[in-house]
Amino acid sequence: MVKEKAVVIIPTYNERENIGRMIEVLEKEIFPQIKDWEMAILVVDDHSPDGTAEIVREKMKDYTNIELSLGEKQGLGAAYARGMKYAMEKMNADWVIEFDADFQHDPAYIPQLLNAAKEGYDYVVGSRYVPGGKVPQDWNFSRRLISSLGSFVARFILFFPFEFKNAPRDLTSGLKATKVKGFLEKIDLDHLLSKGYAYKIEIFYRMVKLGAKVKEIPIEFKNREKGESKMPPKNLTDSLKVVIKLRLQDEKTQSFLKFAVVGFVGYLVNALSLALFTSFSWPEVLCWLLSTELAIISNFTWNNLWTFAKEKFTKPSLVLKKFLQFNLTSAGALVIQTVMGTLLTSLFGPEHRQLYLPLIIVFMVLPYNWLMYNKVIWKVGKKDKKGKNE
Ligand code: GDD
Ligand code: MN
Repeated sequence: MVKEKAVVIIPTYNERENIGRMIEVLEKEIFPQIKDWEMAILVVDDHSPDGTAEIVREKMKDYTNIELSLGEKQGLGAAYARGMKYAMEKMNADWVIEFDADFQHDPAYIPQLLNAAKEGYDYVVGSRYVPGGKVPQDWNFSRRLISSLGSFVARFILFFPFEFKNAPRDLTSGLKATKVKGFLEKIDLDHLLSKGYAYKIEIFYRMVKLGAKVKEIPIEFKNREKGESKMPPKNLTDSLKVVIKLRLQDEKTQSFLKFAVVGFVGYLVNALSLALFTSFSWPEVLCWLLSTELAIISNFTWNNLWTFAKEKFTKPSLVLKKFLQFNLTSAGALVIQTVMGTLLTSLFGPEHRQLYLPLIIVFMVLPYNWLMYNKVIWKVGKKDKKGKNE
């Protein structure tokens, strides 16, 4: 059987004190333990002024499975983008492993990652934030807090509310194995949102969106012994920018924001037409009924044309059927609002009435409508050949 090929990508910038020893450890201690993979090393160096590349070139004389990619220094993300493309295009990698030169990750984790890969996972991540995982002992409180809070915020913004519970724990870990076929090859490495460390968050997110089966294995992240960290000072804000951009690019999020805007417009239609009709001194019931129905029509129309443009229906008979259905679910919202409003008023008194209304809307009506629109009215279901809803 032909062995799958795994390329260990090591980005380096001024790692002359580490890279030689790292290559030796990998070649002499680690790779010999790995029987069922073809192993190779790719060092991605940005013309380090300390001459890191010279040491790599020396090692390339001793071992035939090492390659070196030299380029301009733009940041860790840019270096990995270059390295990953090199590994896929020039080295025929089936898997790539992201790995640091500085021994903060024990090289002995590499066989563990690859074993998990053989179990059928697509993305195997060394994680500091699962049980058994650790950050360096001497990290002080604020450093720990920033790291774990950062992870939490990123996880929350990217995966709330639907996938939050099962979302991965360590989005920025520097140690992982990634499957090429069906996954890494589908990620646009030329247009990553960040050229810095935050590229890790983006690739993680895209892997999850591609449906990768993710396994997090606990790792101990150790202290750097030699050389210095290259993490740029603006890393935190850069990461936050990436996280927010990713979230806003998400289709569901965009639909939700449109849904909120349409809902607000509906509210304005309702309030303004109510004021107009009552100024004609029409019967009170008629004023409420008509203005509410106008709001429903506005909501239906804009949601169909805009929020759910992909699922929109155009066939007149279907529009009619859906519109009637929409009135029904809207009546459901009306019932929720009336029952809850009356209930809260009788429980806590009428003086907070103006508080109950927005609370009911945000916590009950909004989720109810969103659910109904997605699962009933504009559900992704039977579509005709042109991809339109029947
Ligand atoms: N080619 C290249 N270009 N290599 C770089 C660059 C760059 O601009 N910046 C960093 N590197 C290399 C370093 O030489 C090292 O081998 C590796 O990338 C990791 O860099 P460190 O400077 O040691 O990173 P760190 O220890 O601060 O951060 C580690 O932990 C983070 C999570 O806390 C890394 O594993 C990060 O990837 C990880 O996000
Ligand atoms: Mn490091």
